[in-house]
Amino acid sequence: MSGKTNGTSFELTDRASGRSALLPVRNGTIGPAALDIGELHHDLGVFTYDPGFGGTAATESRITYIDGDAGVLLYRGYPIEQLAERSTFMEVAYLLLLGELPSARQLQQFSASIRYHTMINESLLRFFNGFHHNAHPMAMVSAVVGSMSAFYHDTTDIHNPRHREIFSHRIIAKIPTIAAAAHKHSLGQPFIYPRNDLDYAGNLLHMMFAVPCEAYPVDPVASQALDLLFILHADHEQNASTSTVRLAGSTGANPYAAISAGVSALWGPAHGGANEAVLAMLEQIGTVDNIPKYLAMAKDKSSHFRLMGFGHRVYKNFDPRAKIIRAMCHKVLERLGRTDNPLFELALRLEEIALKDEYFVARKLYPNVDFYSGVIYSAIGIPRSMFTVMFAIARSVGWVAHWQEMISDPAMRIGRPRQLYTGPVRRDYVGVEQRG
Ligand code: SDX
Repeated sequence: MSGKTNGTSFELTDRASGRSALLPVRNGTIGPAALDIGELHHDLGVFTYDPGFGGTAATESRITYIDGDAGVLLYRGYPIEQLAERSTFMEVAYLLLLGELPSARQLQQFSASIRYHTMINESLLRFFNGFHHNAHPMAMVSAVVGSMSAFYHDTTDIHNPRHREIFSHRIIAKIPTIAAAAHKHSLGQPFIYPRNDLDYAGNLLHMMFAVPCEAYPVDPVASQALDLLFILHADHEQNASTSTVRLAGSTGANPYAAISAGVSALWGPAHGGANEAVLAMLEQIGTVDNIPKYLAMAKDKSSHFRLMGFGHRVYKNFDPRAKIIRAMCHKVLERLGRTDNPLFELALRLEEIALKDEYFVARKLYPNVDFYSGVIYSAIGIPRSMFTVMFAIARSVGWVAHWQEMISDPAMRIGRPRQLYTGPVRRDYVGVEQRG
């Protein structure tokens, strides 16, 4: 095969057969262009091969842009650093869903709509009785979110924009309530209903930590820290869980079921489950003296140990979110009077030592969003088993934004990748009596 380009298309020629394919180049607003290979199999009889989709643009999107080499993250064009500094999670949710920052009135209306969808059907609460108290909260959240498809199936027409909007608001509003209910179930405590006088993060903290016997004043430091973490986790282009939601949604499946699939995909330790795994890893390392031993394990492929919270498929520089969270740790721990936080100190030393180690430098393995987030979740009282649930609450905004973008695209087709087949060639059936 050989190829040449004129900038708007790429000609690929199979020297053996003399057949050629003209592959158009599709340009985005920023970032790499994409070679449109839609006709490649038709013209040259070959597929492209890219396990893990590391070099494949599966779709066109206007929501989030990442430059992995420069460590840039933009939500609808706005730098994550500016949104983290000046915005709120509700405002960012509006931006990701609708593409523009809201006016004060639009934000007020959007926030009110979310607030008035936070209660869940009482029957949904009864699902929790089917779980043991030691069930992992992500398993409960995935199951109960999926059961929303049973409540909102016949009344959800995915081709009706108003129905799509209600679906989006219900998911964003109800996942915190479901998350808090999962936590309460694991404690054996009564569920706490949402309150309309609290903001999004404060409501979650109240539902998780209040008890019927006494008032629970929401700590503004904790609420503000959680709101900022939600902004940082809200979306991230075509990550594994968002791609799962897109693929499931592309079949026309009930959108609540598609979101449940996203929750399940996020749970993996290679993805959102890493934040929980980082805390377990830091506790396993224990002291700074042990760092060299664990770095050696991380470099030894036979150990199957990885430095959790390090590395990223796209970022080959600092994950900008990790930088913001690391700075946040200092502020939050100070304001909570928890400056003596051994796990944070250990994380800082681990980062410092790893980033001087040739193995990590050569592979451009930097701390990612999950490396420091658990330090803050712990400091504000979130139990480790709920860390990934926090990630799912925030990422529900990205999931519904991408689902909306896909479903409302008239050119949408069912996702159906092909494969490189390396199994047996055709062979005939042999009866068991001849098999020896
Ligand atoms: C998230 O996609 C997103 O956008 C995800 C996310 C989002 O917001 O949605 O950003 C959230 O999922 C962050 C990532 C959280 N996961 C972890 O922290 C788990 C630990 N990191 C990894 O397992 C890994 O880095 C991945 C999964 C994140 C990325 O894996 P890739 O891109 O498939 O890279 P790879 O496994 O091919 O690694 C390349 C090399 C390998 O070594 P060599 O074969 O070249 O010798 O780097 C090594 C890997 O062994 N490597 C690590 C490592 N990560 C990669 N070695 C030790 N420790 C690590 N953490």
